[in-house]
Amino acid sequence: MLERIEEIRTEAAAAIEAAGSSEELEGLRVRYLGRKAELPGVLRKISELPAEERGKVGGAANKARKELEGLLEGRAAALDASELDAHLAADRVDVTLPGAPPHPLGHAHLVARTQRQIEDVMVGLGYFVAEGPEIEHDYYNFTALNHPPGHPARMLQDTFYVQSRPDVLLRTHTSPMQVRAMENQGPPIFVVVPGKVYRRDSDATHSPMFHQMEGLAIAEGITLADLKGTLLALSRALFGASREVRLRPHYFPFTEPSVEVDVSCFQCDGTGRLADGSRCNLCKGQGWIEILGAGMVDPNVLGFVERYGYDAERVQGFAFGLGIERVAMLRHGVPDLRRFFDNDVRMLEQFA
Ligand code: PHE
Repeated sequence: MLERIEEIRTEAAAAIEAAGSSEELEGLRVRYLGRKAELPGVLRKISELPAEERGKVGGAANKARKELEGLLEGRAAALDASELDAHLAADRVDVTLPGAPPHPLGHAHLVARTQRQIEDVMVGLGYFVAEGPEIEHDYYNFTALNHPPGHPARMLQDTFYVQSRPDVLLRTHTSPMQVRAMENQGPPIFVVVPGKVYRRDSDATHSPMFHQMEGLAIAEGITLADLKGTLLALSRALFGASREVRLRPHYFPFTEPSVEVDVSCFQCDGTGRLADGSRCNLCKGQGWIEILGAGMVDPNVLGFVERYGYDAERVQGFAFGLGIERVAMLRHGVPDLRRFFDNDVRMLEQFA
């Protein structure tokens, strides 16, 4: 009987060591330690043995059972670990696969796209693109732009103030970057500055936050004719090859002379009348649409950057400021500026 126990023990131990899966291992447990297995059977029938054999056989069978239980447990842990590894390796998710159903790709917001289109045109004309802070010092937003402290022109812009003395505010236009750009680089300079600006204003054509594109060109011998030519090129790129521009006198503290710039209406081709003779709704029968403010940079502004090489006797130039939403509204027939910022996907998806 003792030999038989030893036989079972060696056979079972070898089989357990060789088991390749936890399923196989479970089969071995049933076969060697299950209710109908031989070894437990020996233990159950100990009492039927002659008294002098009981102790030895019982001890050997118990020892063999304990050993096999230990081996089963160890092998089970090893198999579990390698099976988990294999499962994890096989179950890897390819996050680059399209979903089911495939999820549509996003796209740039219409304002961002319009901004980039304007940048592309200006980069093509030799300008570089710079960005600046939206939280700005009064100095750059007003003082260095020829608005002396207390000057009434400061009231023309409904400013959000962040802090007073020293005054910090949300920039009301991208023009503060004129002076910042000139502090960074001496003349000649040709730069455009896209970015967010803020005013206390809200209606169909005004939002407390909107985007502008500033343009600044300073070099020797730049004239108002260069401004007009540059804006003509930009207008034709944005609104069609047969556009014209016209300059109307205006006032800005930091340009002299200052102008407002109109582009000939691209819906009625500047006639103010549609094909059926009715009044053009886009330009309200005017034939012209106002698109931006501009002018020749005031020598007083250059005075603030004289030490960076801007000698108003030697260099001069122009600046302009364009509303990016306004361009997008005109080009795409968007009736209300606030729609850009409602984030209604039905609106946004129209401009994929
Ligand atoms: N900063 C002006 C505005 O926001 C626009 C402007 C820019 C005018 C540059 C002249 C020169 O209204």
